[in-house]
Amino acid sequence: MNHLSADQLLFATHNPAKVSELSHLISPSKEIVSLADLNYNEEIPETGNTLEENALEKAKTVFEIFNTPCFSDDSGLFIEALNGEPGVHSAHYSGKRDYQTNNQLVLEKLNGITNRKAYFKTIFCLIEADRKTTYFEGIINGSIAKESRGENGFGYDPIFIPKGYTKTFGELSVETKKTLSHRARATKKLIDYLRA
Ligand code: IMP
Repeated sequence: MNHLSADQLLFATHNPAKVSELSHLISPSKEIVSLADLNYNEEIPETGNTLEENALEKAKTVFEIFNTPCFSDDSGLFIEALNGEPGVHSAHYSGKRDYQTNNQLVLEKLNGITNRKAYFKTIFCLIEADRKTTYFEGIINGSIAKESRGENGFGYDPIFIPKGYTKTFGELSVETKKTLSHRARATKKLIDYLRA
């Protein structure tokens, strides 16, 4: 099954927020098409122990289904004082896929700890028509706030303060996050690769 033209690229995600975060950066060189655009609503397995393993698993699965070049992403929050947790387990750190509960758990674990250093990391995995597989990494350094602040964004945004700022991603505008984020940084590398 291959419905896409040469100037379209399939993003192995169901998440419209991620598609909108990337699309304006990648267009006009490529039009991003998501799994939702192709009416594909099945869960894609993520059973790896690293972001790279998960991204590869997702991209491979989608490549096999649609037989078309595609890329996937996997991201996480890495906290120095927690030995890199929640890391690859960011989506359901507390055992639940619930942003507020996960944020609360992080704040509890860091209670009384002065080292608040953390970073978000995204890995993209691109599989081209000849099955060449390439990874792109994006990192944004920052720190964990003392309490949850702001309503913007998703996930750990209300407790993450990017380096050089005093506000959390939850308080900063969506536009500011779009230019700074780990996904934006990985996207720029992907675009440079696609243009080369
Ligand atoms: P995913 O692999 O991009 O779906 O990310 C896994 C989990 O990491 C998400 O469920 C969020 O909890 C967290 N995460 C990833 N990116 C962000 C972000 O930009 N802001 C806040 N949390 C994020």
